[in-house]
Amino acid sequence: MTAAAPEVKKLYISYNNIHKLCQETAEKLKAESNKPDIIIAIGGGGFIPARILRSFIREQGEKNIPIQAIGLSLYESMGNNSTIDTIGKEVVRTQWLDFGAIDKHFDTLIGKKILIVDEVDDTRTTLYYALTELKKDVRNQAIKLGRSDEKTIFSVFVLHNKDKPKKEDLPKELMDSGRYLAARTVPDIWIAYPWDASDIDYHTEMAKTQGN
Ligand code: G4P
Ligand code: MG
Repeated sequence: MTAAAPEVKKLYISYNNIHKLCQETAEKLKAESNKPDIIIAIGGGGFIPARILRSFIREQGEKNIPIQAIGLSLYESMGNNSTIDTIGKEVVRTQWLDFGAIDKHFDTLIGKKILIVDEVDDTRTTLYYALTELKKDVRNQAIKLGRSDEKTIFSVFVLHNKDKPKKEDLPKELMDSGRYLAARTVPDIWIAYPWDASDIDYHTEMAKTQGN
């Protein structure tokens, strides 16, 4: 008799749970008068949370908050001397903001409250890259337009933050001022999101048994 293979421990997350995590976060943002003027979703995982969040943020009589998309992918990259030690992850922009359109419709990002949304903060590489590059773009534009005195405020929202050593740090100011919002901090195990499920009924049952 062969021993059964150990079950890979996964955290199953249902659509309902994601909906509620977004609702909870929206209430927090509203209570703290920290509602964003614009949401920037990191694709693909950030798209669904961003869209759900938007409905909960909107108050009666208010216009929808715009959602803009950026695409970032982590690729294996080789260092110069091509040894295993130097293989790392490199962030590649697959899609970026159309500043021309943003400037025309929302009078630039300068001085706005901007919320960056992704599904999971794993090594933090992607979030660090998104925040750093977006800040740089807004700063350069502000200098160009002579609007450097206007303070642009960035916040971050993720459904799940994995409790593990991170490869990058987000600015201390952001972390300390409650502008890093992780709906849940979870152990460093694989999170199974519903959009990847081949059998959504099984997936949802598993999520339910885990209380998610
Ligand atoms: P990070 O390591 O820089 O923090 O990056 P990120 O959190 O964005 O993770 C890199 C990729 O790995 C992302 O996919 C992310 O979705 C995926 N990932 C990391 N941990 C988990 C996990 O526990 N469960 C799932 N389902 N995915 C995980 P991506 O290439 O950006 O794809 P996508 O966002 O288009 O789905
Ligand atoms: Mg992602």
